[in-house]
Amino acid sequence: MTLTPTGWLRIVGLLLLLPACTPSDSGALFPVPENLGSVLPSPERNPLTVDGVELGRALFYDPILSGNNQVSCSSCHKQELAFSDGEQFSTAGVSGNLLLRHTPALINLAWMDGYFWDGGSFDLESQVYGPLEHVDEMHQNLSELEQELADHPYYPQMFLKAFPEDGITIPNLVRALAQFQRTLISADSPYDLHIRQGSGLTSIELLGFDLFKKKKCANCHVPDHFTDYTYRNNGLDDTFPEDHERLAWGRARITLDPADIGKYKVPTLRNVAITAPYMHDARFMTLTQVLDHYRFHLAESDTVDAEFRRDDGSLGIDMTDEERDLIIVFLKALNDDGFMSNTAFSDPEGLQ
Ligand code: HEC
Ligand code: HEC
Repeated sequence: MTLTPTGWLRIVGLLLLLPACTPSDSGALFPVPENLGSVLPSPERNPLTVDGVELGRALFYDPILSGNNQVSCSSCHKQELAFSDGEQFSTAGVSGNLLLRHTPALINLAWMDGYFWDGGSFDLESQVYGPLEHVDEMHQNLSELEQELADHPYYPQMFLKAFPEDGITIPNLVRALAQFQRTLISADSPYDLHIRQGSGLTSIELLGFDLFKKKKCANCHVPDHFTDYTYRNNGLDDTFPEDHERLAWGRARITLDPADIGKYKVPTLRNVAITAPYMHDARFMTLTQVLDHYRFHLAESDTVDAEFRRDDGSLGIDMTDEERDLIIVFLKALNDDGFMSNTAFSDPEGLQ
């Protein structure tokens, strides 16, 4: 496994954060494979508990969270697609209007420190308010929701179990959803088995992994998270109009720093073979299109990442068709079938 300096810094950073949670109260309840650091990051202000996670899971699948009681988090984040939705832009929200960005997969979120494609939300707790209140997503009035939960046959008891001090409150709802989402860990792909046990990848997949590193993919999609958690411009566009909500600005929409224009969060590539279409606006339908973008179609701009420059300053990552196809073979070895079928992440039907 190779790590860039940023990759190491992140890991060291995580280690520094670890004393914040003691094994007895949180992360240790939910074991994490050693190549992801063995301990699940769980903030002191919202430590994971079995009851909190169970409540979060019930809420995640429950349309009671939406204004018309028809839309749940799982309407857009579907387990069989690694919690993405397979659509370019969702119309599954309460209004039926087209959303402006593509629904990302929800994978290993506990390690992230910025959520949404532009990092507009800094933790999983505050993130939840986005979909809950957005008119085109769940369009929920929060005090009405509190009342609905209080009148519900099983939520009052579940909330009290998870949060004995104050039971049903919106902050507790948000905490429970964040706890459940932190347990969505994917680390049992053939790649992971290879890293942990020294076997699991075929010789063809290993050739692909080698190319993945040689062709600079691993400089941003750093193993074993397959992201370095930074925001980068991977050359999708050459203009960034200041139009509706400054959507095209990417990270700069949040930071208002011109140096961040056109940058988006480097997404993980875990389970990427089943999370098409790709990029924040889902402009590519296939991995072949993604790879050909990096080979032939990188767009010039002030903020395009220096990784993509050849020695002569021109843009592009050179590879043959065969090399491209080998990289795709490797990407498919990042599929963790157990993540899509793990019943601990599924709709707790028994409760409905
Ligand atoms: C109508 C579809 C829809 C619904 C319903 C929905 N989401 Fe999302 N979700 C999205 C889209 C689209 C994005 C990306 C938005 C962006 O980046 O600007 C997103 C982003 C996220 C992210 C950020 C992931 C990342 O990698 O940064 C999380 C976490 C998340 N949603 C959780 C939830 C939860 C929890 C619920 C239920 C309370 C929910 N979503 C309901 C469509 C939806
Ligand atoms: C300079 C950093 C960088 C390098 C190098 C890089 N990527 Fe990316 N990659 C990104 C960013 C940033 C995005 C998301 C951009 C967006 O959505 O606007 C992305 C998106 C992707 C996606 C889409 C994932 C999804 O869920 O939508 C795939 C697949 C991908 N890259 C594969 C690769 C491969 C394979 C290589 C090597 C040939 C590579 N990348 C090189 C930064 C990089």
